[in-house]
Amino acid sequence: MKCVNMLAFAFSLLFALSVSATPSLVQMVGFLKQYNKDWSFPRVKEIAASINYTMFDPNVVGRVDITNTFVGAELNTEYLFGTAAQFGDDKNTSLIGVPLNQTIVELVAQGNTISVQLLVTFNWTVEIIPVQFNVMFMFNDEGKVIQYDAQLQHSSWLFQDILPKFVPVLAKELDLPETTSPAVLVGKRASFDICSAHEQFCTGENLQYNSTAECVDFIENKIPFGDVWQAGQNTGICRYFHKAMVSLRPSVHCPHIGPTGGDMCVDRDYRQTVTESPFPQPFFQLPGGLTLADLNLPPPSDKL
Ligand SMILES: *[C@@H]1O[C@H](CO)[C@@H](O)[C@H](O)[C@H]1NC(C)=O
Ligand SMILES: *[C@@H]1O[C@H](CO)[C@@H](O)[C@H](O)[C@H]1NC(C)=O
Ligand SMILES: *[C@@H]1O[C@H](CO)[C@@H](O)[C@H](O)[C@H]1NC(C)=O
Ligand SMILES: *[C@@H]1O[C@H](CO)[C@@H](O)[C@H](O)[C@H]1NC(C)=O
Ligand SMILES: *[C@@H]1O[C@H](CO)[C@@H](O)[C@H](O)[C@H]1NC(C)=O
Repeated sequence: MKCVNMLAFAFSLLFALSVSATPSLVQMVGFLKQYNKDWSFPRVKEIAASINYTMFDPNVVGRVDITNTFVGAELNTEYLFGTAAQFGDDKNTSLIGVPLNQTIVELVAQGNTISVQLLVTFNWTVEIIPVQFNVMFMFNDEGKVIQYDAQLQHSSWLFQDILPKFVPVLAKELDLPETTSPAVLVGKRASFDICSAHEQFCTGENLQYNSTAECVDFIENKIPFGDVWQAGQNTGICRYFHKAMVSLRPSVHCPHIGPTGGDMCVDRDYRQTVTESPFPQPFFQLPGGLTLADLNLPPPSDKL
């Protein structure tokens, strides 16, 4: 009996060591350094062109609070790198900024997960501005990201701060008086850009609007442009994000800029969004294989 216990102990110790050994802290920090280099304009263009970011597991699940949950390496690469590549190359004034560089403010590492607070310098077209992200990255045995959860801190403050600075630039570009409200200017910039992308890439089976005029009317009059935190809802800003991806895979992304919004730019339920988790496993492991329930901390329920 004692012998069996010893054996079980030896096995669990071996297991614990192997779990903590793969991936190593060096590997996870290595990812972070690489990511900081890669998620930067114009480097994002090379990553976007590679289709699948090599640091992502093929089945990576990523959630970004201001947008959506994305499943798979390709969709995550398109979202994180493809959009930034397009926004940074926009010949007209891009309403969304691109990352330039980032510094790590806080870093916690435990098991195969790191939690990091990043201060990212964005070029938000009319101003260089710091943006704070809080992200948990969980890695597989090979040190590739298997799931991540990112929040943009103070996202509802961003436009309030920066949109007034867009006014003179957009007014000039759109040939409108500077007294035009920021909402109208932003709506017109967005409708032109989204509907041009639709015209160019969403043809044949991928067509979403009967005409460009219908598209412009929809974007300007039927939906709000929305705020940064609404980039995964039935808004103009969501379609503005997705128009930066239609050239990559029209059949996947065209529905997202159309009137239905596909399954991306749609009305969402607040309670469901807040209580649901898309992640197959918790990010952090408790010591000794304990679960939250073991500690009398019941998991979240959908009946909040
Ligand atoms: C990218 O990964 C997807 C699976 O996520 C796969 O179907 C596709 O063939 C890959 N593309 C390239 C170019 O590697
Ligand atoms: C980030 O980029 C900005 C703008 O180019 C620059 O002023 C700043 O020094 C850079 N910061 C780091 C840490 O590289
Ligand atoms: C920021 O973006 C604008 C517009 O694309 C560009 O003209 C400017 O050179 C960029 N600045 C930096 C520091 O990247
Ligand atoms: C920029 O936008 C204006 C309309 O606001 C349009 O006439 C022009 O063709 C656009 N330029 C490019 C390069 O898309
Ligand atoms: C396009 O036109 C058809 C026929 O008039 C109409 O049924 C359809 O709803 C229109 N499509 C959109 C996206 O409005």
